[in-house]
Amino acid sequence: MVVAIDGPAGAGKSSVARAVAAALGFTYLDSGAMYRCVGLAAFERGAEPAEVAGEVRIELGERILLDGRDVTDAIRTPEASEAASRAAADPVVRRALVTQQQRIVADGDWVAEGRDIGTVVAPDAAVKVFLTASPEERARRRAVQIGADVATVLAEQTIRDERDTTREHDPLAAADDAVALDTTGLSLEDVVARVTALVAEQR
Ligand code: C5P
Repeated sequence: MVVAIDGPAGAGKSSVARAVAAALGFTYLDSGAMYRCVGLAAFERGAEPAEVAGEVRIELGERILLDGRDVTDAIRTPEASEAASRAAADPVVRRALVTQQQRIVADGDWVAEGRDIGTVVAPDAAVKVFLTASPEERARRRAVQIGADVATVLAEQTIRDERDTTREHDPLAAADDAVALDTTGLSLEDVVARVTALVAEQR
């Protein structure tokens, strides 16, 4: 079974997806970490993301490994975020990573988070949630997470939102059958309870 959690940066996807996975005993898939690894590898090598996408070995788990190196923190810097966003606009990169993600979720029970899980990676997902929150709230959450200034995060977030929603290939969009959930002002517990209730309805 796949639970797809999509939405823009800072909507709370990671916290919600992790907590839902823990509550249900499902495995968590962070698809954004894969785009971040490709972005980081391209940035470090001064190469095109499409050149490295098929070569790099990405291992997801408690720690994120890129060709065996622990990049858990390195993929979260503003530079890596920007590189990931650019890499994610490349159709060659998307094809490579979507194929890997589909292979990963083919067996077992998953909570997968990203931008295109419900639309592209797992269109048959049993539960699809599209998480949103106001831009200011999202920027505030991300700023706290990474210890940065809210105005800077908001400015960068606006650019990445624009790129995510207007890119030609697999743009960020809610699947027609996704349940939209605005998390502005909701606690993590509230959101997790709503998502696990949706899963319970499907079982
Ligand atoms: O979710 P996260 O912010 O870690 O994602 C990093 C980047 O990867 C985002 O800027 C987004 O453009 C891209 N992404 C994507 N498709 C996914 C997951 C992430 O395009 N399924």
